[in-house]
Amino acid sequence: MEQGIFITFEGVDGAGKSTQAQLLATRLQAEGVLTCLTREPGGTALAERIRHLLLYTGEVKLAPVTEILLYAASRAQHVDEVIRPALARGEVVICERYIDSSLAYQGFASGNNIEMIRQVNAYATGGLMPDLTFLLDLETREGWRRVQERGEAARTDRVEAKGFSFQEKVRQGFLRLAAGERERIQLLNCSGRTKDELHQRIWELLLDKFPSVLTRKEQEKGGWL
Ligand code: TYD
Repeated sequence: MEQGIFITFEGVDGAGKSTQAQLLATRLQAEGVLTCLTREPGGTALAERIRHLLLYTGEVKLAPVTEILLYAASRAQHVDEVIRPALARGEVVICERYIDSSLAYQGFASGNNIEMIRQVNAYATGGLMPDLTFLLDLETREGWRRVQERGEAARTDRVEAKGFSFQEKVRQGFLRLAAGERERIQLLNCSGRTKDELHQRIWELLLDKFPSVLTRKEQEKGGWL
């Protein structure tokens, strides 16, 4: 059976990753393509507990190395339990955030050693990297505004609590990653684009890179076309 396709969505908080990941998954499913939609930190029972530790325990101390290792531990479980099995079944895996988030947040924005984060994550994932990454970019001020608006209804997490200038560093980190890996990372400017326009662009880019993605349909009696 053909190996699946691993797609990730990255970007600062408030960029619209969840919306776009969901739109893409829904469209692929409507085309009959088996799709696995998941997210980090989280995606498994254990990883969701680690997510809680990482994001919603502001009163508990968290050393930089511990934070890096917890994200990596959550990712290791996620890859082992969800991502690799889905890819082995030939599915399209769509994941909100992955290693690039650790590089941007814990690396570029927090000032930890980028190479060390790469190595820890290579170990945690057995070297699994996305086939394609959509980096949703928008002005930090705009993303920050959206996070603030959402914050009235939702809880502000540990990362959001670090404030605007931290988010700006995260954004610059993502842009550097994109500049270094133009083949894998598709940079998408979200300012002034509706969610449908953005989705259409993402769809075109996916078909461009993987023209055969729509032939990955499940046959009625199981098996693959
Ligand atoms: P996310 O679930 O995308 O938050 P939201 O739904 O509020 O946009 O991610 C939660 C936070 O976790 C986000 O602020 C970024 C942070 N994060 C890291 O710092 N490193 C990582 O490796 C990952 C995956 C996330």
